[in-house]
Amino acid sequence: MKVLVVGGGGREHALVWKLKQSPRVKEIFCAPGNAGIASLARCVPIGAEDISGLVAFARQEKIDLTVVGPEGPLTMGIVDSFNEAGLAIFGPNARAAAIEGSKVLAKELMAKYGIPTARFATFSDAGEAVAYIRQLNAPCVVKADGLAAGKGVVVCRTVEEALEAVGDIMVKGVFGAAGSRVVVEEYLTGQEVSILAFTDGKTVIPMLPAQDHKQVYDGDQGPNTGGMGAYAPAPVCTPEVYQTALEKILIPTVRAMAAEGRPYRGVLYAGLMVTDEGAKVLEFNARFGDPEAQPVLMLLETDLVEIIEAVLSGRLAEKEIRWRPGAAVCVVLASAGYPGPYRKGYPISGLDRVPPDVMVFHAGTALEDGRVVTAGGRVLGVTAAAGTIAAAIEKAYAAVEQIHFEGMHYRRDIGRKALSASKIR
Ligand code: AMP
Ligand code: GLY
Repeated sequence: MKVLVVGGGGREHALVWKLKQSPRVKEIFCAPGNAGIASLARCVPIGAEDISGLVAFARQEKIDLTVVGPEGPLTMGIVDSFNEAGLAIFGPNARAAAIEGSKVLAKELMAKYGIPTARFATFSDAGEAVAYIRQLNAPCVVKADGLAAGKGVVVCRTVEEALEAVGDIMVKGVFGAAGSRVVVEEYLTGQEVSILAFTDGKTVIPMLPAQDHKQVYDGDQGPNTGGMGAYAPAPVCTPEVYQTALEKILIPTVRAMAAEGRPYRGVLYAGLMVTDEGAKVLEFNARFGDPEAQPVLMLLETDLVEIIEAVLSGRLAEKEIRWRPGAAVCVVLASAGYPGPYRKGYPISGLDRVPPDVMVFHAGTALEDGRVVTAGGRVLGVTAAAGTIAAAIEKAYAAVEQIHFEGMHYRRDIGRKALSASKIR
């Protein structure tokens, strides 16, 4: 079959890498892709949000299956457009992807169906949000309703910070229409875990639990990023947390979406905080996480094409999903300045010195005169699997040492929380 992957980051490189291993896949395309993806797939210069361009390409090339990486095209309705054109595509349609596209919708759904989450209220009036913040007190969290490139969540230590966040989002409109409504919620403490699940709208099969590292510096310091690294499986997801996530969160959410006339098919990502009172939902995403997909897909043994076909035909219940033993770690190498402004175009050296069983998934790279150069904030995701988390960490960091580009920075503690957790047990 001919497969098209939509997107051009580290997650999409991992998706292409995994899909290409399927004996069913004869030819693979990626739109728009990047320099790393170009070594596995034919990259086509169509933007991930150019939905009519993608439909036209899929028709012309007679693509048998399209797999969507990012949330933008999903919330814009790429799945609806492909379905109308009679083209097979994996992901939720626009009404279902709204679980990520509108935080107000996600929170109201959780409240209505008793799915555990932080206490909250939603506002379309800045004055009312301010009054609620004064009553709730700090710390609290202010979230823009819509998509804001991962920047729409402000964790506020003081009431003043929260009022400023409301001013920025609702009055100044720094995120545009995405900020016309906000969620204000209680601040939760604990460890975070990402549980992604495959679902055909009836059956829910979780993947291995993963942990992201959102802050830019070691020890979870500094501003939030798109994710500086991830590993799986995450020991913070004990059997109890796993059961809660499945029975109180993932299954009820899939049922609730169906009951609301938003049947959900694809990957449902639950971002959870494991608190003293159990796991609570921080957010839902309508797709694979980036960088969680990199370690999780490295450990997936089952053919991803077969899983996707089971989802599309509504027969996921018949599918058994197998995982490799051990653990995998992804260390993100970022440009100087990221998550703030950064420069692009620096040559990357040492990629040829990385051992073949370590995958360097490209996030923001481009080819310039035959050389691989930096082209984004997150540049590479060095991903290694091994029998234990400690061995996977060592293997990933040994490969990181081979790679260099001007201003390269990365966290040195990816996966460390898993080590301390396994010592406690
Ligand atoms: P979100 O995009 O909703 O996952 O938020 C981004 C990050 O903000 C999360 O990964 C958490 O680190 C943090 N966050 C979001 N909501 C809360 C909350 N209620 N309490 C504490 N931290 C939160
Ligand atoms: N790693 C967080 C996300 O993909 O949203």
